[in-house]
Amino acid sequence: MTKINNICCIGAGYVGGPTMAVIASKNPNIKVTVVDINEERIKAWNDEDLTNLPIYEPGLPEVVQKARGKNLFFSTQVDEAIAAADMVFISVNTPTKTYGKGKGMAADLKYVELCARQIARVATSDKIVVEKSTLPVRTAQAIKTILSETGNGVNFQILSNPEFLAEGTAIQDLEAADRVLIGGEQSPEGEEAIQALVNIYKAWLPEERILTTNVWSSELSKLTANAFLAQRVSSINAISELCEATGADVGEVAKAIGMDSRIGPKFLNASVGFGGSCFQKDILNLVYIAKSLGLVQVADYWEQVIIMNDHQKNRFAEKIVSTLFNTVADKKIAFLGWAFKKDTNDTRESAAIYVADKLLDEQAKITVYDPQVKETQMQRDLNYLQSRTEQENKENLTTTPDAYACCQEAHAIAILTEWDEFKKLDWQKIYDQMPKPAFIFDGRGILDEEKMKNIGFNYFVIGG
Ligand code: NAD
Ligand code: UDX
Repeated sequence: MTKINNICCIGAGYVGGPTMAVIASKNPNIKVTVVDINEERIKAWNDEDLTNLPIYEPGLPEVVQKARGKNLFFSTQVDEAIAAADMVFISVNTPTKTYGKGKGMAADLKYVELCARQIARVATSDKIVVEKSTLPVRTAQAIKTILSETGNGVNFQILSNPEFLAEGTAIQDLEAADRVLIGGEQSPEGEEAIQALVNIYKAWLPEERILTTNVWSSELSKLTANAFLAQRVSSINAISELCEATGADVGEVAKAIGMDSRIGPKFLNASVGFGGSCFQKDILNLVYIAKSLGLVQVADYWEQVIIMNDHQKNRFAEKIVSTLFNTVADKKIAFLGWAFKKDTNDTRESAAIYVADKLLDEQAKITVYDPQVKETQMQRDLNYLQSRTEQENKENLTTTPDAYACCQEAHAIAILTEWDEFKKLDWQKIYDQMPKPAFIFDGRGILDEEKMKNIGFNYFVIGG
């Protein structure tokens, strides 16, 4: 039986870092080396001061502290780590393509392919290669082709082991995973490789939560899971607009439908729109695959989830403009939150970026407070859209490290992220420091509507 003593993970990002930290902490006899070409990121992973880790994730510093320097290492020496490993995880980014065929839809697999080529070039002993990145169905075939034609006599087994962690709860999701999915080749060698990975997860998870499938089912399950989750958010967001037009309350509707055990209560929070690095990218990828296979109705069905999400972000921005007497030009709008959800410093595809972009088009002056996101990141997010010059973005969107300063003298407050600390703010004090009428646009439904109205705010909540 293959026994794994040495793991290399290529990609020290939001998945590679936390996943390997947990694997190392639960398997003290396995040496785990996480490598990345980004020197700054690796330096931050190795920082003595655990508050400087590149990822903000509750519980992560404790897990890193437990294993780092013992059996968990972060390094830029990619070739060396690959050569020494029995098992290599590929956990690099697979963003939506921004060029060529499939632009704006297909997953860009160039980073994954580069990893496969690097493994092929460096390996001198047999290895199990694990796809941890989210990949289109049948990608394992491409990786296998690259690896099997090296002609150097090294054998590779390819496994698909998609990651289901959500940011902000990554450690909890990894330590108490609902399930782990491992897809592998249906052959004795494939079974042996699957078992080697099962044994790693078995160190802390009950065996019945470790599902094994063929590679293609595993790859497709990951895209499907994200599509279903995002679809729930778009579904409740569609209902939120209907609620606003009819006097129904989306929170009450969500509770009522969620008590049906077939529907369930989770993932039914109406919001300003889902963000994050996965949902949009993975659905676009699913749509692209369906289109490529000529499955037009399937593609159209899933594309609607994205269309609804874009609509939700737009209509939130439009609501702000129309409520503020059809103009926000030169008005101060305070943004509470920039991250795509609470308890993360990740801003990829955050709704805040798109709402800000729309309001900047209307010449608003935006000030942002987010407890974990740096100003440089916010500017990078806005500049990426290329809607105006970098200088204009800098002048018209500023940040402050204090929520009260952010809201002072603001014509309106928009809540973009559901950080717990926003609920605990002294809202009377905030009201007193704003010109009247004072508006709140609660894009996350986190404040007490009656309390806000009693203070004197004009309070608008999604789906209320
Ligand atoms: P990320 O951008 O945070 O990290 C990827 C890292 O890979 C980067 O640090 C990059 O420098 C590094 N990298 C790229 N090419 C490399 C190479 N050739 N050699 C060494 N390092 C290289 O991305 P992420 O959020 O960790 O996502 C990784 C994969 O996991 C994606 O496919 C994503 O879809 C999937 N995923 C992400 C999440 C999530 O919540 N972020 C959850 C589940 C699955
Ligand atoms: C998601 C999947 O949940 C996870 O399994 C996968 O591995 C990666 O993609 P993530 O994007 O980190 O995780 O966070 P998630 O909690 O799914 O939230 C995604 C977005 O949906 C956030 O913007 C969140 O605010 C929004 N959301 C979520 C809602 O608007 N309403 C909800 O009820 C739930």
